[in-house]
Amino acid sequence: MVPSDEKDNTPESLKALPTDERISPINRLQDTWKHSIERPEEFWEREARQLHWFRSWDTVLDWEDHHATWFKGGTLNASYNCLDRHLDTPVRNKVAFFWEGEPGDKRVYTYQQLYKEVNKFANILKLRGIQKGDAVALYMPMIPELPIAMLACSRIGAPFTQVYSGFSRESLAERMRHLEAKVLVTSDGLWRRGKIVDLKGIADSAVGSCPSIQSVIVVKRTGHDVDMEAGRDLWYHEELASVDSGHVEPAQMKSENILYVLYTSGTTAKPKGVQVSTGGYLTFVTSTLKWSFDVDERDVWWCAADIGWVTGHSYIVFGPLIHGLSSVMYEGAPEYPDPGRVWRMIEDYSVTKFYTSPTLIRHLMKFGDDFPNQYDLSSLSILGTVGEPINPDVWRWYYRVIGKERCPVSDTYWQTETGGFMIAPAPGIELQPLKPGSACHPLPGIDPLIVDEDGQPVEDGVKGYLTIRKPWPGMLMTLYKDDARYQEYYWDRYPGAGQDLFYTGDYAVRDRDGYYWLLGRSDDVLKVTGHRLGTIELEDCLVSHPAVVEAAVVGKKDEIKGEVPVCFVVLKVGHERSQELIDELKQHIRNTIGPIASPSDIYFVPNMPKTRSGKIMRRVIKSLTDGESVGDLTTLEDPDAVNEIIKVVYPKK
Ligand code: WT7
Repeated sequence: MVPSDEKDNTPESLKALPTDERISPINRLQDTWKHSIERPEEFWEREARQLHWFRSWDTVLDWEDHHATWFKGGTLNASYNCLDRHLDTPVRNKVAFFWEGEPGDKRVYTYQQLYKEVNKFANILKLRGIQKGDAVALYMPMIPELPIAMLACSRIGAPFTQVYSGFSRESLAERMRHLEAKVLVTSDGLWRRGKIVDLKGIADSAVGSCPSIQSVIVVKRTGHDVDMEAGRDLWYHEELASVDSGHVEPAQMKSENILYVLYTSGTTAKPKGVQVSTGGYLTFVTSTLKWSFDVDERDVWWCAADIGWVTGHSYIVFGPLIHGLSSVMYEGAPEYPDPGRVWRMIEDYSVTKFYTSPTLIRHLMKFGDDFPNQYDLSSLSILGTVGEPINPDVWRWYYRVIGKERCPVSDTYWQTETGGFMIAPAPGIELQPLKPGSACHPLPGIDPLIVDEDGQPVEDGVKGYLTIRKPWPGMLMTLYKDDARYQEYYWDRYPGAGQDLFYTGDYAVRDRDGYYWLLGRSDDVLKVTGHRLGTIELEDCLVSHPAVVEAAVVGKKDEIKGEVPVCFVVLKVGHERSQELIDELKQHIRNTIGPIASPSDIYFVPNMPKTRSGKIMRRVIKSLTDGESVGDLTTLEDPDAVNEIIKVVYPKK
């Protein structure tokens, strides 16, 4: 109990809980965490039992050469766990997805209906020759056929990759080639801010350079005219009409078989194919969703992410379906047709738990409190964020205006590579006092360590590199077809550390109360509106333009987007600086990577600041664009390059 002579400093969010829940005789979270770290195998084995296994495992963890095999000997199927296992329970007739298209059209799928659709889609894939182990690429908008396609692939044991629908033709082609996908599933188009995006047109131009693609299955969404190549392209609705709609036996997958490969940006020009296992990953998303959002059958869950990113894989598709939750899914732009759209949908579907990015909150916050205040948000009980650090003032706005000071905010820290939440509040175990802007404590089974350059632990209160000490079931298996890069980036960073440390690429600090604060990327990766972009990807793209000889890209702080790319470009002799060239380079980036990579500024400079050994000093450029002191410049080859940058970035100074 709180001693009567002491001020009750319990945060408001905790006061909302019944007294017996907030004052526990033991510290449940710390105890669970301690147990999980001392006896990880016992702990994870218990978690894995939440899934349905065709065959149980022989060993919980095999850990060799930085490769974790979880639940070896066990077999299971992802779509069986998401669908079939619910069919004998009341979940059968419960809504799996309340879906809304941007124009306002609606669809509802119960678990039973979703099961039927997935089986039909699996039959279509089988007819197109897809067998266990064959790869499928998805280039799909946020329509119900996307989770249906993912589940259909997993049903027949076909690893899939979903390519975010905002990515360009080049990005799509590169991923399909790398995965050697046999089938591409796409749609004619999608709706974005009232306009049609011609997805099929982009897909067509990508497929030309992907000889492995044999069929393209096209879902009709927007109904605009598209070219259909005879013998290769098929309308999904036409296939549906003719296909056998019967039950497809779920493939018995080994726990360590690939469920999906998701490409994400890294520190080279080539994206990394994060290879995800079936048993370990599903165990991890199932447990973490329960811990961090305390989900149960009464919930209406809304993870407002795009399934093109890992957030949607883990917490729109697999986690919520395994838990038998009803989810809201939305196709379009959050402020369409007005900035009340999201809040209206929370009221309409009585959403209980809402999970989104700080960027979205910052974006909607700028329209003021009147929009959310028009809607009844009283169904909400827990809020969440992901993708980038959340500024304390934005956290407070979310807590106050959206959560009405009743709902704890789960700031969840994780990555594509981790598969699920790593550091986050855990109201599903015990809600501890929250600190706005901190992701709080590691979840059970997660053993973080903040280290210095040499891999030695730093003291509390000191900023360092965030690493993880033990494997956890959601951890990537490797980088697809590139184990050397996997070893090098994630594991070889601290040879003198004396222990295995998984490198996250993030800065962090642990405060004296044991709370973790994430402080942004420590490598050449940007977070633009929560999306991940490699500066080198952008630089590579810029130098592929005939006018450009050299490029450097850094992230500049942005009030809404978190960070935006700023490009510095050295032109080839014979090319002149001009607004047209700036526009052309921006367009070149949009075409090569996608609109999310659009830079805020492109500056022309005569030279780059370089070290004597010829390395571009991005640190110096970044400090200049952030308006910070540049520090020691004695190692620069040509200190004048710095003045040139100051001149272009701050023309009046
Ligand atoms: C990077 C991973 C995780 C799903 C979506 C993004 C940053 C993520 C937080 C957070 C501060 C965060 C990190 C991380 N990040 N969550 N709660 N607080 N930073 O996945 O694209 O793989 O990006 O996002 O920098 O490394 P991703």
